[in-house]
Amino acid sequence: MSDEKEVSLPAQSDGATLTKGTGAGEPLLKVTGLQKHFPIRKGLLQRQTGAVRAVDGLDFEVRKGETLGVVGESGCGKSTMGRLITRLLEPTGGKVEFEGQDITHLGVGGMRPLRRDVQMIFQDPYSSLNPRHTIGTIVSAPFKLQGVEPEGGVKKEVQRLLSVVGLNPEHYNRYPHEFSGGQRQRIGIARALALNPKLVVADEPVSALDVSIQAQVVNLLDDLQSELGLTYVIIAHDLSVVRHVSDRIAVMYLGKIVELADRDSLYKAPMHPYTKALMSAVPIPDPKRKAAKSERILLRGDVPSPISPPSGCRFHTRCWKATEICKTTEPPLLELKPGQQVACHHPENFEDQAPQDTVLLSVAKEAATLVADEVLAESAATSAAVAAEVGESADPGARGTARPAPTDPQPTDEPTEPEDDRQESTDK
Ligand SMILES: Nc1ncnc2c1ncn2[C@@H]1O[C@H](COP(=O)(O)OP(=O)(O)O)[C@@H](O)[C@H]1O
Ligand code: SF4
Ligand SMILES: [Mg+2]
Repeated sequence: MSDEKEVSLPAQSDGATLTKGTGAGEPLLKVTGLQKHFPIRKGLLQRQTGAVRAVDGLDFEVRKGETLGVVGESGCGKSTMGRLITRLLEPTGGKVEFEGQDITHLGVGGMRPLRRDVQMIFQDPYSSLNPRHTIGTIVSAPFKLQGVEPEGGVKKEVQRLLSVVGLNPEHYNRYPHEFSGGQRQRIGIARALALNPKLVVADEPVSALDVSIQAQVVNLLDDLQSELGLTYVIIAHDLSVVRHVSDRIAVMYLGKIVELADRDSLYKAPMHPYTKALMSAVPIPDPKRKAAKSERILLRGDVPSPISPPSGCRFHTRCWKATEICKTTEPPLLELKPGQQVACHHPENFEDQAPQDTVLLSVAKEAATLVADEVLAESAATSAAVAAEVGESADPGARGTARPAPTDPQPTDEPTEPEDDRQESTDK
């Protein structure tokens, strides 16, 4: 079903330079103090009684040609952040700039030209495609919405896009249920690429897929980036997916960025205790790291509610290093090493930011457990499989081509509540 065809890819309209591995491009997107508080309303009068502080003050840049990975546990605000920077949601505070233009409060009309440049790939390839529309209709929707007539006609261009993502262009008239999960995600990618975007925000693009398919889709995204000069923000709930494709990684906790660093610095010497815990929970199939197995940390308890986040450092209720100052004073995100920003009073791999403060909070003593390797064997197998297939060292010769998904068994379940194919504001 997914014959791969060699096709020529269009050059990016502004000739964006690739900076993969260097991270030295100019900012394409800049976010300052970004906030999204969802109001909680109660009673007959629907009075606002509180707010879900889903995103609570983010500062970061996305540079031209780079991949910024964003990781954090479920509920920490990653999807909300993705929808804010693509302006599918209206921020409650802060600023979003795209190519130097303030787009924070642009309405549907003002955003229309930008919809071409900024695209989103959604997590769930089952619900993000309208089951009543053919693949041709779905992938051509962006042309209709933007009133764009590609050279050679819409059908020809859609078929070319299907080839680009490793699908058979002859399947133009088929419906989403005729495709496997991996193939549906390729359809979502084709739709996102239709208008030759500059920035693609992929929200957990592979977490709904079988592990065996995940690496193929990640590799496809990676290949498309090199060929089309795309800039990515790739959101994931653990580090295994973003590890090999990101230039820089932002770690989020309860609506905040706690660490933002070059990929290599983050892996070699994580500075935030939460980053360290995330890395411990995702065993990395690197023989050199085997010695670190006794340091694996498994955080106890759930992420606190973003309705009333903990005082001071939001991580203090789960951090094994927390002291009194962590409870009272929020640590700012500071560049403690070149290219490595951290928000912590007692960072790892660095001199303490609060050296006088050495008495651990009682909660800190119970916050984390060291876990034996065997307990994590199952998750190790999963993430190792992904990492091995995605990893540069694993299969260097195979990285240059987009690999199609194999013809897996066809799912028969109908998608529930499909999102519309349009990507208009959902916030109104
Ligand atoms: N439309 C909404 N209304 C109210 N709360 C929301 C809405 N969307 C997300 N949230 C809440 O915001 C927080 C962050 O959600 P989300 O951005 O989806 O996190 P993640 O993608 O990291 O799992 C969660 O507590 C979630 O329940
Ligand atoms: S040491 Fe303190 S400031 Fe640092 S992460 Fe732990 S609780 Fe937060
Ligand atoms: Mg999410």
